Amino acid sequence: MSKQTILVTGGAGYIGSHAVKALQQVGYKVVILDNLVYGHQDIAETLDAELIIGDTNDRELLDRLFSDRQISAVMHFAAYAYVGESVTQPDKYYRNNVVGTLTLLEAMVAANIKSFVFSSTCASYGVPQQIPITEEHPQAPINPYGATKLMVERILQDFDIAYSLKSVIFRYFNAAGADPAGAIGEDHNPETHLIPLVLQTAMGIREAITVYGSDYPTADGTCIRDYIHVTDLAEAHVLGLEYLLKGNKSEIFNLGNGNGFSVKEVIDAAKQITGKPINVVMGDRRAGDPPALVGSSEKARSILNWQPKYADLNLILQHAWQWHQKRHA
Ligand SMILES: NC(=O)c1ccc[n+]([C@@H]2O[C@H](COP(=O)([O-])OP(=O)(O)OC[C@H]3O[C@@H](n4cnc5c(N)ncnc54)[C@H](O)[C@@H]3O)[C@@H](O)[C@H]2O)c1
Repeated sequence: MSKQTILVTGGAGYIGSHAVKALQQVGYKVVILDNLVYGHQDIAETLDAELIIGDTNDRELLDRLFSDRQISAVMHFAAYAYVGESVTQPDKYYRNNVVGTLTLLEAMVAANIKSFVFSSTCASYGVPQQIPITEEHPQAPINPYGATKLMVERILQDFDIAYSLKSVIFRYFNAAGADPAGAIGEDHNPETHLIPLVLQTAMGIREAITVYGSDYPTADGTCIRDYIHVTDLAEAHVLGLEYLLKGNKSEIFNLGNGNGFSVKEVIDAAKQITGKPINVVMGDRRAGDPPALVGSSEKARSILNWQPKYADLNLILQHAWQWHQKRHA
């Protein structure tokens, strides 16, 4: 029996492209909607999915898309995600991440599509009061990016009550790694994530990696983060989608490893895996960087039966390194 068609917004981006692949592997048909502001057409083209180049703010396009195709559910990755830029250009973030999502949700309600999987973020928690962070932890984002995601979470609660639109909200920790088969991977431009920056330094594309703060109250003084393999993240999305398609209630899940690694540990592991020297420059702390961000994903494990396969920093780095060498050859 052929499975349903899923709309994946932001499917030409990093996490979205891996979700497209995971959906296809279990038989779903995928339509990608991406404005290609940050996504990559060549990556989308390696996937066997229809690519619609367009914007979530374009209601006419969405109405046409939903009336021309039998879309069963939407996975929504499309957003801007640069924390620093969200502070200097909050309007850009509220318009794209909140208004764009609202437009999409309104079009879904009009088209009677009732299942929505949403990319939220651990940035919605703000500075953690305790570690590991569970889904019950208070949400108090400290930048507009985190605030946009929290606003959408609230909109989703209200749309559930008013229109029975059911959602699975995933609050990710740090997505990392690449497709183990090497076909797709991370290519943000500009890049702000630690692992690609470290690997680009190993490749000589960058002169050095700057470590922001070495006097945090952690074992080696550098910040601790929770890295989650993008393929495990993508698998969780398929499970979240199927949970909704079975008629379950809306739910919120953290997605992380439950293990934290310091910036220094990541750099040391990357030196081992790449066999290359990695130049490090010590910088000052950045405002708003908590010493440690580690999530508990017990809820996703127990309710969705999510079993991450690549919860290992070395594997994450190996897959990212394989991809980077190919992408920047
Ligand atoms: N990368 C992480 O570690 C991380 C962590 C937490 C949450 N997230 C969230 O996950 C999602 C995906 O992140 P990513 O790292 O893959 O980012 P990405 O930039 O690689 O992917 C986002 C994609 O959405 C597209 N897009 C943006 N606005 C759009 C719009 N209005 N209409 C159509 N397409 C649009 C971009 O062109 C891009 O291809 C985002 O919502 C992000 O906030 C990411």
